[in-house]
Amino acid sequence: MIVLGIETSCDETAAAVVTDSREILANVVLSQVAEHRPYGGVVPEIAARAHLEHLDRLIAQALAEAGLTFGGLDGIAATGGPGLIGGVIVGVMMAKAIAYARGLPFLAVNHLEGHALTARLTDDAAFPYLLLLVSGGHCQLLAVEGVGRYRRLGTTIDDAVGEAFDKAAKLLGLGYPGGPLVERAALAASDPGRFPLPRPMLGRPGCDFSFSGLKTALRQRVAALPEAGLAAGEVADLAAAFQEAVADVLADRCRHAIAAFRAAHPKGTTLVVAGGVAANRALRARLAALAAAEGFAFVAPPLALCGDNAAMIAWAGIERLGLGLIDDFSFAPRPRWPLDPTARAAPGAGVKA
Ligand code: KG4
Ligand code: ZN
Repeated sequence: MIVLGIETSCDETAAAVVTDSREILANVVLSQVAEHRPYGGVVPEIAARAHLEHLDRLIAQALAEAGLTFGGLDGIAATGGPGLIGGVIVGVMMAKAIAYARGLPFLAVNHLEGHALTARLTDDAAFPYLLLLVSGGHCQLLAVEGVGRYRRLGTTIDDAVGEAFDKAAKLLGLGYPGGPLVERAALAASDPGRFPLPRPMLGRPGCDFSFSGLKTALRQRVAALPEAGLAAGEVADLAAAFQEAVADVLADRCRHAIAAFRAAHPKGTTLVVAGGVAANRALRARLAALAAAEGFAFVAPPLALCGDNAAMIAWAGIERLGLGLIDDFSFAPRPRWPLDPTARAAPGAGVKA
């Protein structure tokens, strides 16, 4: 089976071709970062127009790299939500049009399911596993029981962790998008303990997260420094302090989630991390150490498959196609689409993915 995947839910326009034997034949990602940078964040209208402008060319490029034409495909998968609705509409309409014209199955993929199943594409992870999903719009712990079967164990009560990284970068004058810049700045730290920061939720029962207090504490630390502007050493130490606080919180919440997951799934012994923030090496190292201490295997996707991409959408499409979970053309793009519809809505949860 060979599936074309299309991803347009945020600020990456992406097309990929993946096989059911876990081969990524093409994985093309066009970042719109430069177009959004002047605004310090993703502008939905600009994103939608950019997807429209570039998507057909990227699909042609992905097919050419895979050495295929539409005739060689077994299905067309597109992100059907959640995300910025203008972009999602562009991807879904494109996928439906190709599927209709070529008589191929159309697969509407939940973007979060794409992140959640990446560990099966890269590492053949067996169900059930515990998933920490950390991106610009989401911060959740989920028991992944099967395709389409997710039980949410915890979520953020305010900001997503990627959002917190982006805001921290802004406060430190590092630019946008913030995660990789904070990570790089932290590498130059000489004293990460110089600016103590709080660890919201640490030690509390349950698996929920909170990051707004950490962001406020960082802002206060910055405001307390002399006005002449931050010295490079201060930026590095603040970035490292922030990253360590995040690592402590994520590890603590994951430790609680492992206990809850174990109780419900005695056979599950894998911790998976996914989403854009999963690219952070310091966080990966911390989670790997936690997993080892708990007797769990640890799976983190290669860096190129942490951020938004279409290979994960194509793979989720393959999993769904294999189970006969084909969508019809009445599928309507969804701005919100929780993986676990039984979980309560989190206050302040964003629509990004
Ligand atoms: O999954 P993703 O590419 O897009 C969605 O939000 O769906 O995640 C993007 C987020 C951004 O907030 C970005 O700052 C963060 O992931 N990020 C990182 C790193 N790379 C990307 N955060 C921390 N460290 C990184 N190395
Ligand atoms: Zn994402």
